[in-house]
Amino acid sequence: MGRKILLENINIPGIKDYEVYRKNGGYTAVEKALKSMTPDEITEQVKTSGMRGRGGAGFPMGMKWSFIDKKSGKPRHLVVNADESEPGTFKDRYLMEHIPHLLIEGAIISSFALEANLSYIYIRGEYMWVYNILEKAIKEAYANGWLGKNILGTGYNLDLHVHCGAGAYVCGEETALIESLEGKRGNPRMKPPFPAVSGLWAEPTVVNNVESISTVPWIINNSGEEYAKIGVGRSTGTKLISASGHIKNPGVYEIELGMTVDEFMNSDEYCGGMMDDRPLKALVPGGSSVPILPVHYIFKTANGEDRLMTYESLADGGFVTGSSLGSGGFIVYNDTACIVRNTWNFTRFYHHESCGQCSPCREGTGWMEKILYRIENGMGTMDDIDLLWDIQSQIDGNTICPLGDAAAWPVAAAIRHFREEFEYHVRFPQKIKNRDHFVSEPMEKVRHLLK
Ligand SMILES: Cc1cc2nc3c(=O)[nH]c(=O)nc-3n(C[C@H](O)[C@H](O)[C@H](O)COP(=O)(O)O)c2cc1C
Repeated sequence: MGRKILLENINIPGIKDYEVYRKNGGYTAVEKALKSMTPDEITEQVKTSGMRGRGGAGFPMGMKWSFIDKKSGKPRHLVVNADESEPGTFKDRYLMEHIPHLLIEGAIISSFALEANLSYIYIRGEYMWVYNILEKAIKEAYANGWLGKNILGTGYNLDLHVHCGAGAYVCGEETALIESLEGKRGNPRMKPPFPAVSGLWAEPTVVNNVESISTVPWIINNSGEEYAKIGVGRSTGTKLISASGHIKNPGVYEIELGMTVDEFMNSDEYCGGMMDDRPLKALVPGGSSVPILPVHYIFKTANGEDRLMTYESLADGGFVTGSSLGSGGFIVYNDTACIVRNTWNFTRFYHHESCGQCSPCREGTGWMEKILYRIENGMGTMDDIDLLWDIQSQIDGNTICPLGDAAAWPVAAAIRHFREEFEYHVRFPQKIKNRDHFVSEPMEKVRHLLK
């Protein structure tokens, strides 16, 4: 059994409610932080923990906090990113739905560390029922003196609001989120300036993911040093993984960073192996934006080392033979999965979600979708595959925000590792048209037919 930090108390009946949460040690970290620690001491503990942001990029959280401009005299803000729209990722929802006070407790301590008096949780519009859960929990926190004026008699004031988005993936990008929170269209901003200098209402702002902020109470109760003892190298602590696809036990799991991908995928405690014991074909380890891995790079790196559930090991080999831990959306595909259809499906999503500010993303995602539709439906040409490659390479790195990269990487990896499947679609249009569209021929048959 791995160590649990976030999900330790998740199965206690009634833990969603304040009384039960409090009886089980809830809010003791707020007491400790506000009564016996300074904001800088809290930031130091978070730095020592080695905790890296869990929203996808893995940026060290303590370092981000230390960038916040406290000298300008302007009000500061914490904004918790609960937009969670990446296909394959559903772990923040799980935390907020089942143990909302953990996030509120983390948000209070983090706001105190940033010397912020007005903070927000920005939640995606599709999570309306979770919004209601958070609203209720925040009311309970106010009623019990954890929010509002003069918290615990320390003189510290904090107001915390939940703000509901209108259902746009791009609003998960921190500067688009800030624009949306200000009541504007959610278009990403140019950086610099970074939010830590000029964020919400041009005031210093830290944006952190739900899982990142929910980890703070444990760090305060147990110390950053204890947290850093869990995990491997620069991948410290635990991570929530949303596991889905062709596995026996889909769900949200908390793992100690550093376990092998093999153990996570095949042990009964986690994914439980392949559904119906069919062969494994591919893995998207970190949400739809990260490169898909073919079976031969899933359990071993190109150097023959065990592939680990860490930021470093999953990225080993770059985007040629590696991928990324991303937001921990672990999507498993068996031998029947059609990679072309999967890529078209992801691309359709990115095209729909592109904010349209940057031409490469706005136009490129649209063209990629069209071409993938053609190939997927038996109307593509061999030149289309090269054209697709060309378009993704012109989007990658050429947009204001990483949504463009997120749209380009899955296409590049699918062509790189599964080009035969694209060619099969082009050369055997009749077979493609007459099949169940979600199902692919086994790769051996595809290879045989292509000979
Ligand atoms: C298109 C796009 C969507 C994103 N969606 C989310 C999201 O839903 N949740 C999230 O925490 N971060 C998301 N991010 C990353 C945020 O911009 C930001 O890096 C993150 O919230 C920082 O928190 P962290 O340091 O705790 O990971 C997204 C980024 C991009 C480019």
